[in-house]
Amino acid sequence: RWAGVPQAPSDKILGLSLLYTLDANPNKVDLGVGAYRDGNGSPWILPSVRMAEKILQDTESDKEYSPILGSPKFIQLVQKLLFAHDTSGFQLLADGRIVTAQGLSGTGSLRVLAEFLHRFHSNHHVKVPDPTWTNHLSIMKDSGLTTSAYRYYDQKSNALDFDGLLEDLSRSEEGTIVLLHLSCHNPTGVDSSPEQWDEIIKMLSERNLVPVVDTAYQGFQSGDPVKDLATLFKFNDAVAMGKIPTYLLSQSFAKNMGLYGERVGTLSVICSGPRESERVRSQLAKLIRPMYSSPPTHGSKLVETILGNEDIYNQWLNDVKTMCDRLDSMRLLLYDKLTVEYNSALDWEHIITQKGMFCYTGLNPRQVEKLRSTKSVYMTADGRISIAGICLKNIDYLARSIDEVTKE
Ligand code: LMR
Repeated sequence: RWAGVPQAPSDKILGLSLLYTLDANPNKVDLGVGAYRDGNGSPWILPSVRMAEKILQDTESDKEYSPILGSPKFIQLVQKLLFAHDTSGFQLLADGRIVTAQGLSGTGSLRVLAEFLHRFHSNHHVKVPDPTWTNHLSIMKDSGLTTSAYRYYDQKSNALDFDGLLEDLSRSEEGTIVLLHLSCHNPTGVDSSPEQWDEIIKMLSERNLVPVVDTAYQGFQSGDPVKDLATLFKFNDAVAMGKIPTYLLSQSFAKNMGLYGERVGTLSVICSGPRESERVRSQLAKLIRPMYSSPPTHGSKLVETILGNEDIYNQWLNDVKTMCDRLDSMRLLLYDKLTVEYNSALDWEHIITQKGMFCYTGLNPRQVEKLRSTKSVYMTADGRISIAGICLKNIDYLARSIDEVTKE
């Protein structure tokens, strides 16, 4: 019956984790998937999450279904985290203009947003940065939207191609959906400056484009999840001043709370007023119910406990800083090893200037393949490395391996 089903290619990111597990080399290094590892190279349950787990163990009274859009308390606390730190966001909230629902982490939240856009927005075309997270393309396409790329990264300078980006946005048809990474761009680690964001928002306004803002690494840019919302505040200002009528936001707690497998995040839609919000909310519920009925509750209860308790919240801020600092120190060490210890002739400056969990190394597909097949060093084919996979135990081996393949 299924003889005609062709083999699908393995996932470009998660497929690597599988290959890594099967590799018997004791020196193997996993720089594939973006998941935080501690100084020993092990997954890390955040101390704040442990505190929340303890409270839940003692107080959780049921495992009932959550409402279709998630627990109201969870939504209220996440809205406070995302929108209550700036005047415009606060006003939008107070005016009942923000609809938020729990989603299944970043992917699930984006998928719901994409389905919503497919159903209710007349323009079905999404422009995404070149490059972008590979799953972005699949999510949009599987939701019935078409995609094309806007220029983003200049391979020669390892920096943002801002002129290209702006020109490509300026050539977009009215109503085109534009996917933007709020901070810690995946895969490049290169973000726009505050002044560049002002110009981007101006262009979105002039061309009447619909921004979908994705934030999966909130806190990894500055070490502070609230500071990392600075760009979102600009979007709130633009809405409050009537320059853009809306934006859509997808947000994830996978990385900044280390809740990867709990699948917890949110999606938000900015509306023109409470009545529109009510209608949008009803349609999101109608869309989600046949997809997965309602979101899982353990992760959202953890988030609720962390955000709702001052001590645990402060511990969480510390935890994010701990992760961010370790990533920064590994960037610095790798840069030092390559440039000073190995005296590499190549320019590795971008290792320390890029932000977040990833570094877009500039290694070419041949070098990436060689690192995998001869050194058991795993990274995505585009040369992206997850800095979180680096620790003191493997950094010497990694730097030597990179130096070797780039000298040939
Ligand atoms: C990544 O880019 O490695 C992460 O966002 C994990 C994923 O789901 O791909």
